[in-house]
Amino acid sequence: MAVRALVTGASRGIGAAVAETLAAAGHPVVLNYRSNDEAAAAVKARIEAAGGTAELARFDVANAEETGRAIEQLLQGEPIGILVNNAGVAADAPFPTLKRDAWERVTRTSLDGFYNVTQPLVMPMVRRRWGRIISLSSVAGLVGNRGQVNYSAAKAGLGGATKALAQELAKRNVTVNAVAPGLIETDMMAKAPVEQILPMIPMRRLGQAQEVADLVAFLASDKAAYITGQVIGINGGLA
Ligand SMILES: NC(=O)c1ccc[n+]([C@@H]2O[C@H](COP(=O)([O-])OP(=O)(O)OC[C@H]3O[C@@H](n4cnc5c(N)ncnc54)[C@H](OP(=O)(O)O)[C@@H]3O)[C@@H](O)[C@H]2O)c1
Repeated sequence: MAVRALVTGASRGIGAAVAETLAAAGHPVVLNYRSNDEAAAAVKARIEAAGGTAELARFDVANAEETGRAIEQLLQGEPIGILVNNAGVAADAPFPTLKRDAWERVTRTSLDGFYNVTQPLVMPMVRRRWGRIISLSSVAGLVGNRGQVNYSAAKAGLGGATKALAQELAKRNVTVNAVAPGLIETDMMAKAPVEQILPMIPMRRLGQAQEVADLVAFLASDKAAYITGQVIGINGGLA
């Protein structure tokens, strides 16, 4: 079934791979991003070159008013049946030195972003008795990670929101799941000390954005109709 999909943070990394994979499966895709027009346009061009359909929607998911206006506009078009809450940022520091700004930037993007984008899209899905809501949590949200108290809190919060919302929407055929990647080779990992990290990963390699995208696309498909309320790890055995 071809359903219009919204992917937040789709200009790079995992979000771009998810958008391209959903488009290849036949879904028209809305590519949200915050600032990088050029990168977002490149993702749109790749999707179109492969025969898919994509449109750009630039807004900051952490900003309630901006997101509200953007979603209202999107709702004027074809219904959105698949939502991938992927936009996320990290701002790492040991907790004693963690500034309030870093705490708020991370929690506002992941958690407020979940509310700002998901809340106005839920009732239209409920009315149509079909929907898929998939959010990007993290291994840090499952087991914690030193230097990432803010990020771990935000990602664990997404897991809780996913489980609760899944219970509210299950009867309406709207599934709500999260994926919790380990270490995936994207810009977010660019500054990470990969050589020190690899020995901790049982598979001894980073994951690829495409591997996460394939899991998200499966959860978005009809084949995953009986999976809801789950936080699914994809981490090479890390947790
Ligand atoms: N990479 C990993 O190892 C890993 C592991 C576990 C979980 N995750 C999670 O997976 C998701 C994607 O990660 P990634 O590694 O692909 O990240 P990334 O390469 O840093 O890309 C982040 C994307 O999110 C967008 N974005 C950031 N803040 C936004 C906001 N406030 N509003 C709208 N868009 C925003 C960026 O847009 P602009 O480019 O326009 O700023 C960009 O498209 C994140 O939620 C991340 O926490 C990643």
